[in-house]
Amino acid sequence: MCGIVGYVGARPSEDILLAGLARLEYRGYDSAGIAVIDEAGSLGSRKKAGKLQALRDSLAEHPLPDGTTGIGHTRWATHGGPTDANAHPHLADEDRLALIHNGIIENFAELRAELEADGVSFRSETDTEVAAALIGREYRRTGDLRTAFRAVVNRLEGAFTLLALHQDEPGLVVAARRNSPLVVGLGEGENFLGSDVAAFVEHTRRALAIGQDEIVAITPEAVVVTDFEGNAVESTPFEVSWDSAAAEKGGWPSFMAKEVAEQSEAVANTIRGRIKDSAVVIPELDGLDDLFRDVDRIIVTACGTAAYAAMVGKYAIEQWARVPVDVELAHEFRYRDPVIGERTLVVSISQSGETMDTLMAVKYARERGARTLSICNTQGATIPRESDAVVYTHAGPEVAVASTKAFVAQITALLLLGLHMGRVRGSLPAEESAAAVLELENLPAKIDDVLDAEQERVSQLAGWMADTRSVLFLGRHVGYPIALEGALKLKEISYIHAEGFAAGELKHGPIALIEPGQPVFVIVPSPRHSALLHAKVVSNIQEIRARGARVIVVAEEGDAAVLPFADEVIRIPLAGALFEPLLAVVPLQIFAMALATAKGLDVDQPRNLAKSVTVE
Ligand code: G6P
Repeated sequence: MCGIVGYVGARPSEDILLAGLARLEYRGYDSAGIAVIDEAGSLGSRKKAGKLQALRDSLAEHPLPDGTTGIGHTRWATHGGPTDANAHPHLADEDRLALIHNGIIENFAELRAELEADGVSFRSETDTEVAAALIGREYRRTGDLRTAFRAVVNRLEGAFTLLALHQDEPGLVVAARRNSPLVVGLGEGENFLGSDVAAFVEHTRRALAIGQDEIVAITPEAVVVTDFEGNAVESTPFEVSWDSAAAEKGGWPSFMAKEVAEQSEAVANTIRGRIKDSAVVIPELDGLDDLFRDVDRIIVTACGTAAYAAMVGKYAIEQWARVPVDVELAHEFRYRDPVIGERTLVVSISQSGETMDTLMAVKYARERGARTLSICNTQGATIPRESDAVVYTHAGPEVAVASTKAFVAQITALLLLGLHMGRVRGSLPAEESAAAVLELENLPAKIDDVLDAEQERVSQLAGWMADTRSVLFLGRHVGYPIALEGALKLKEISYIHAEGFAAGELKHGPIALIEPGQPVFVIVPSPRHSALLHAKVVSNIQEIRARGARVIVVAEEGDAAVLPFADEVIRIPLAGALFEPLLAVVPLQIFAMALATAKGLDVDQPRNLAKSVTVE
């Protein structure tokens, strides 16, 4: 994880670096630091444990001389605790070189031993300082930062994006990447580097994604990309589709509150341009019809919230495209020997497009001959670049660590994929397809209806439950992944024990947890779709109610059968069975957010977590 930013140009760099770090803080907030080459040509740096504000306070108290070349870092600790000493930048070559790093250098212990034998002493416990010392040693030999990078990067194993500057080469930042993200922002007389485009989008929307095992050198006038051997590499710039205002809080109390409110827009934007004559046609998938007709198995792989979106997608793709779908957590997938063949399609889902576990699963699948398709929210990210095809979700930048609008956009993209494949494979009757398209088009307004009708009451309920120590969530069919997601949201931001279960599993164990007063959310499927399924869930409610549970039901408008057994009823509008998850999840997100707020917690930056997990 960790966020990195770099700048070369004519403007004072400190403010640019700090603003970039503020936008990347979602990637980690254990410490922050910057290094700048000042007007007099000397390197100054400052780093502080804690959130970015601690660094800002320190700089306000003891300013650094400003300069126009700089790098900045916000950390999610891996090697060494979150202390000032372990914060980045790390210095080398008699403090004339500064280096920042995102990733994990797996062979750092042996490299450190080698350097120590060479007389180098270390000030931190990090793997990063080892890379700084190696590059510093090469710099002393060669006097050239690019050459020093080339000499070192092939010795490093694991994942890294490294950014460095040297005071003898002002106006230059050199960076290298392997298995961690890096994007260049192309300006006029200035250039930027960032973990993602959010780092610089307020200055430029023209960007260049740096590929695997590449080195980039930026000066105010030039951006030169090579491979690790120094051979020139062609890269094509792309235009960022959103502007900096989209990544601001814009008056909302938190990014999460803003992003929950933006969900209808996220769904509408993900659908836009993908419906033609009442059928789903995804232009990015042009040319893949043969693959879709030929495929005999789909594996959807992802982590965290994206994996719960995948579970909803399984129901939709199987129903419409009639292909067996398995959902696999990315970190489990590649550590066994899954059955993958040329007719297997591996679909990966990732908001960031950088989750290391998911990326490795995609690479693993490709190596074994599968075709790969990614569903991703971030342009220029690594996972779509490593996949045969990509369907972008258009949720806009998601900043809060707990995913909300990206989740509904991921489910939307999976519904679109199922409908697209169903059409291509001839397994989806035209009337069913047209009805589904109508459902899709009506979703954004229904999401807003849930927010309008239930936000206040659910927030109030959460306020009353601020002292609760455990909450359970039950669901069946597509309500099951929503129960899991409701529990995850609560754990992530309110630190309350929460678990989601398939309601049918209740009697096989979880019912033992029920004692008087235990709050249980139950996602109730519509009786219009399946009277049987509905009746089963209602009897599950009776079972837990009989044991004293406090039952909070999420049910469609007009479902009166739940009333006698519910302590609270949260209503969602009528929708098709496969579309209900996009509505049912909304009150659960609001509940988690309101409960965390009532406990006085930081909703956007929960402890120990990071939004983009770029380590395995
Ligand atoms: C982290 C985040 C989660 C997210 C998961 C997958 O754990 O905290 O919110 O769901 O990574 O992220 P991705 O970017 O791959 O969707």
